[in-house]
Amino acid sequence: MTEIHTPWWQSGVLYQVYPRSFSDSDADGNGDLQGIIDRLDHLEWLGIDGIWLSPITLSPNADWGYDVADYCAVEPDLGTIELFDALVAGAGRRGIRVLMDLVPNHTSEEHLWFVDSRSSKTASKRDWYVWADATAEGAPPNNWVSSFGGPAWTLDATTGQFYLHNHLAEQPDLNWWHEDVRSAFDDIFRFWLDRGVAGFRIDVCNIIIKDKQLRDNPPATEDDDFEAQLFGQRPVYNGNRPEVHDVLRRWRRLTDSYDGSRALIGETPVKVDVLARYYGDGSDELHMAFNFPFITSPFEAETLRGIVEETEELLPLGAWPAWTGSNHDMSRFASRWGEGNPSKIGAAIVMLLCLRGTPVLYQGDEIGLGDRAVGHEDMRDPLGVLYFPAYAGRDAMRTPMPWRDAPGGGFTDPGVASWLPIGDTGPCNVEDQRSDPRSILHLTHDLIALRRETPELQTGAYESVKAPDGVWAWRRGDHMLVALNLSEGDATLADVEGRIRIGTDRQRDDEVLRGVVRLHPWEAVVIDTR
Ligand code: NOJ
Ligand code: MG
Repeated sequence: MTEIHTPWWQSGVLYQVYPRSFSDSDADGNGDLQGIIDRLDHLEWLGIDGIWLSPITLSPNADWGYDVADYCAVEPDLGTIELFDALVAGAGRRGIRVLMDLVPNHTSEEHLWFVDSRSSKTASKRDWYVWADATAEGAPPNNWVSSFGGPAWTLDATTGQFYLHNHLAEQPDLNWWHEDVRSAFDDIFRFWLDRGVAGFRIDVCNIIIKDKQLRDNPPATEDDDFEAQLFGQRPVYNGNRPEVHDVLRRWRRLTDSYDGSRALIGETPVKVDVLARYYGDGSDELHMAFNFPFITSPFEAETLRGIVEETEELLPLGAWPAWTGSNHDMSRFASRWGEGNPSKIGAAIVMLLCLRGTPVLYQGDEIGLGDRAVGHEDMRDPLGVLYFPAYAGRDAMRTPMPWRDAPGGGFTDPGVASWLPIGDTGPCNVEDQRSDPRSILHLTHDLIALRRETPELQTGAYESVKAPDGVWAWRRGDHMLVALNLSEGDATLADVEGRIRIGTDRQRDDEVLRGVVRLHPWEAVVIDTR
């Protein structure tokens, strides 16, 4: 039989680091690259194969790094390019790869490209951004709404034209119809790939191309999703345009030309049928695409199973899913799915680590860290500042990582004010959980280890198994069975022979099953049916 080689990004587990909140090595209150280097032991022990670094490039931080002023320079708060190289090397020695976050849809208004572009209508980079005249009534060129709310256009006094921004006015959108923009990004890709990065997470990669004619979006109808209803329009012309696939194919060719071991993972906040398109033919666009219907699903067996089955069905042959429950934009799953209940959090960890596809953990997920309320006076996210109290923004999922139960949380020195408050650490911290074999941290660690030694859990096919209401069970490959009781009542799954490898009730590890498995509310088990 021919042996099929599984790429590392399929067999492995990814981990998102939000650098400013991971670990602060120089006691200035900001996490930094040296801090990540100092914590590589933790990631190696956990069994992580790759880290996705949220942006570390130069930024005035209107949107905390997602407004890039120079794609090839490191933000001084976070470190230097030498430290970045040291991080890639140090991680590499531990078998951990590093993926960058690439933000191609927009730059910072301080990027020199935009400084030039806005300077005059004849500037050499004028067409690198999207400029248009006001309507006859002096209104913005069309009705597009920014995904951060309000018009997607801002009038620029220097030339009297509007520029497009799908996020903050400080984040002007690039014009991806322009070949020079495309080739400038090819160079940025190469700059980092040549430095040894293992690939990129690509920010809002589904919206980079907009309708060339800048047509108005149609009004939302009651069939549209929450966001469309909120904005009053269906985003037909300012995102998910067919031409975006040309750019993705270009990036895929470039990435694959690097020894075939680098990967692209797209931020694709779309429904599953649209998501499937971003995989192209299964091998010519994104290697992986984040599944937002899954992240935003309630923690219910029927709904989650439906999303996973739909994903399995609609993704093209050869395409590889990615599963995640938290990130720096969404509420953490320990709060949203887990509601602080360790049983629920454990079941969610089992789910994330046992589906077919790459699990992407967000820093803190491994200890079941939940959202931390951040008061109005401490808010840093522009969305929180703008929309409080209607919306508190994204700071609650960006608070510093609690390494120890001590002032500063092991994140920074005692007495230093961290950029976002760490709050009372309490028992949810790495050090205390490391010394407790029953902790969420050990559950995460042990599941990752089991996954590493069990090819079925890495690449085995997914198949739903008939289960009572509230229970979601699935097979992986020939001999692994995963069962989650996502209900408040006891449940029984019939026709199960085998041995529990890991259960959220750790006393059940190794329990032999003869015919049935009984599950307490929110209990999950991973069974070897041989
Ligand atoms: C998605 C990023 O994850 C988010 O943090 C950012 O604000 C927007 N894209 C704009 O770049
Ligand atoms: Mg620092």
